[in-house]
Amino acid sequence: MTDSISGAIGYDDGDIDTNRTGNPLLSDMIAARYSRRETLRSGASAAALAVFGGSLLSACSGSNNGPALPAPAPVITFGSSTGTTSAGRVVTLSTSATDSSAITSQAVTQTGGPTVTLVPGAGGTFTFVAPAVSASTVLTFRYLVTNAGGRSSELTTTVTVTPAVLGFSAIAKNRLDVVTVPAGYNVTVLYRLGDPINASTPAFRNDGSDVSYASRCGDHGDALYWFGLAATGSARDDTSNTRGLLVMNHENINQQYLHPTGPTFVSGARPEVEAQREIDCHGLSVIEVVRSTAGAWSYVQNSALNRRITPSTPMDFRGPVAGTSLLQTVFSPTGVAGRGTINNCANGFTPWGTNLTCEENWAGYFRRPTAVDNPRRTAREVVGLTRYGVTSTNGNYSWATVVPADPANTLFRRWDAQATGASATADYRNEPYQFGWVVEIDPYDNSRAPRKRTALGRFNHEGCWPSLFVAGRRPAFYMGDDAQNEYLYKFVSATPWSAADATASDRLAIGDRYLDNGTLYVAVINADGTGRWAPLTFGTGPLTSANATYAFADQADVLAHARLAADALGATRMDRPEWTAVNPANGEVYLTLTNNASRTVAAVDAANPRAYVDPPSAAVGNRNGHIFRLRETGDSSEATTFTWDIYLFASGADLPAANVNLSGLTDDNDFSSPDGLWFSRPSNASGQLTPFLWIQTDDNAFRDVTNNQMLLAIPGRVADGGTRLVNNAAGGATSSITTRIGAAPTAATLRRFLVGPVDCEITGIDSTPDGRTLFVNIQHPGENGTTTAPTSSWPDTQATGSAPTGTRPRSATIVITRTDGGVIGL
Ligand code: FEO
Ligand code: CA
Ligand code: CA
Repeated sequence: MTDSISGAIGYDDGDIDTNRTGNPLLSDMIAARYSRRETLRSGASAAALAVFGGSLLSACSGSNNGPALPAPAPVITFGSSTGTTSAGRVVTLSTSATDSSAITSQAVTQTGGPTVTLVPGAGGTFTFVAPAVSASTVLTFRYLVTNAGGRSSELTTTVTVTPAVLGFSAIAKNRLDVVTVPAGYNVTVLYRLGDPINASTPAFRNDGSDVSYASRCGDHGDALYWFGLAATGSARDDTSNTRGLLVMNHENINQQYLHPTGPTFVSGARPEVEAQREIDCHGLSVIEVVRSTAGAWSYVQNSALNRRITPSTPMDFRGPVAGTSLLQTVFSPTGVAGRGTINNCANGFTPWGTNLTCEENWAGYFRRPTAVDNPRRTAREVVGLTRYGVTSTNGNYSWATVVPADPANTLFRRWDAQATGASATADYRNEPYQFGWVVEIDPYDNSRAPRKRTALGRFNHEGCWPSLFVAGRRPAFYMGDDAQNEYLYKFVSATPWSAADATASDRLAIGDRYLDNGTLYVAVINADGTGRWAPLTFGTGPLTSANATYAFADQADVLAHARLAADALGATRMDRPEWTAVNPANGEVYLTLTNNASRTVAAVDAANPRAYVDPPSAAVGNRNGHIFRLRETGDSSEATTFTWDIYLFASGADLPAANVNLSGLTDDNDFSSPDGLWFSRPSNASGQLTPFLWIQTDDNAFRDVTNNQMLLAIPGRVADGGTRLVNNAAGGATSSITTRIGAAPTAATLRRFLVGPVDCEITGIDSTPDGRTLFVNIQHPGENGTTTAPTSSWPDTQATGSAPTGTRPRSATIVITRTDGGVIGL
């Protein structure tokens, strides 16, 4: 590049002296004008252009009594903070210009490489985030300054960008009572159990005396998702990085910390106030969060958009099961009205701007002592209730024992699922059928009742992650059923995707279009690396009234008893299907299989090939879990067949490499019980070309070594490894099975990023679209402690590592940022 006035100058970092006058430097004056810069983009070249304020600047001196000389050109410098960087890193360009006369224009223009956005900073600087690249790529920038005499100076600088890498050092396993992250990262606590979400709710005391949890952050924050908001008003803005709604699940409770002296019974009944606290701590939060100009994040206590959804919030049923006798109760005689959602675990989103929340371990909340209730039921009903585990003698937390002050209050009695009335509309025998669904929520409108989407089937829904959405193609949603030996499902909509639906104003109506009609499938996995999706369609194969195990009545019955239908279809029994994640670059589907205490040496199969012991426990099973992945045939969400392999086998690094630590994990990346699983958003460098995969653990087997953790991976592709013979030998039994294993991870493709506080689970993750702010939920710290002796006092420990003795722990959402402002993890 050349200086157009002064003659050829090769590239330099800008640090040369071309000032031929005796005038003082004007850089300070010019800097004062930088506040009027704006950033533009040119069209055809797609180059970024940053224009400085164009007003004239007067020289401070410069009278010249001699013969007239040609006016000198501006004296400028131009350089970058680094000559070489990798995708996702922040680069700073620095400029300066001085002149004896006024400077009339100056601009920084990108003249080569993938387009970046130049953001003005202080003192004539511009920053940009290095873009995703597949190979080393040069970005070039030109700085052009013109003065009032018509003279110009120009300099060029280049920055070489290399492909994204794991840009942090692995942190050590530990059992500290804080969240640990790598050097160069910050952790702040954003939203904690008990935090009030409106102006009228008092501050949280955290001593067991607090009430009004329906107006506070719930317990056990789980999956979360960022929905962007416009800078002002309540409009949806998918590009916002500074203001948004976090929608998060509150899966369960640390019951012991919610009451002054822990949970109690009085005359055999739970006190109403205690049960109400516990119920209200479940459900979801929709909470507004903002980033200040200084970069600090906070939640907006008084936002009109805030919402708590609890197990008592009115809901509507949609899809094939809505309005059927299966859903009829004394509260909902038409089988359309629903009340609340519970044990919401993982999630999903839709491109039309709604949240999908998933009801997981709902069955245990119901009291249904089988010895008393089974004789009142038909044999067919007993099969259905038993297959879903609706068999608890008291129900979780014994809510049905409450004698409410208002006899008309049925919010406690509903948890008693015994058939005590004359018919299903006279009692709550069908209340267990009101749960086990995927629920769609419009986060932008807290007046709308959520919709339970029955077409997606009823089971222990872990999550519901969408496939890639391709115009004209029917989209799919991938769903795990989290219990030992349960299945992987997918729902394929009957409606081909129309991109115009992404921006419709009535978002739940769009949900009706895509989520109420379609086909539910279950995965049948073959040993040869292939698999097929078996449809749960009434009237086909074994799904008829002639089925000997359970006589299916119609499609609604099949969906409400999806487990029984999948049994009949020969679905593959998996090691507890948890989250699904879809690679945004290629559509491949990942599934965490967290562990399986009942996987025996004799019962291994190619997709669930390990049964072993992880000391100090002597128990046999898939103790540490693995991550399965599949590629749809034709890379299509509509496919009915796929290929598969096992991306990663979780294991301690010390376990036998031949048959347990099959992925060769080391001290820097060993883990156990993968659960949360999330690909970085495709709107930034961490979700493009080779998207990064975050893995969160919910472990008990490895807690003797470390608290639960989060790792970051750059996975390859299905079938990038090969076959492996696994020889299982435990408990006196032996077996051999050939599995399909992905390419082994390396120090460059899998590292530990975070370790949580004592007795927590790490679950729930999303980022702002730019990937520069990461939100993570720390669930149930101190879950094994007691009211008087908590095992954790996090998050009060986060700042200094300690808190006053006896401080009760609180589940909380944290914010992770980089000190240099770059994309998290890169
Ligand atoms: Fe709620 Fe399966 O984790
Ligand atoms: Ca989970
Ligand atoms: Ca847990």
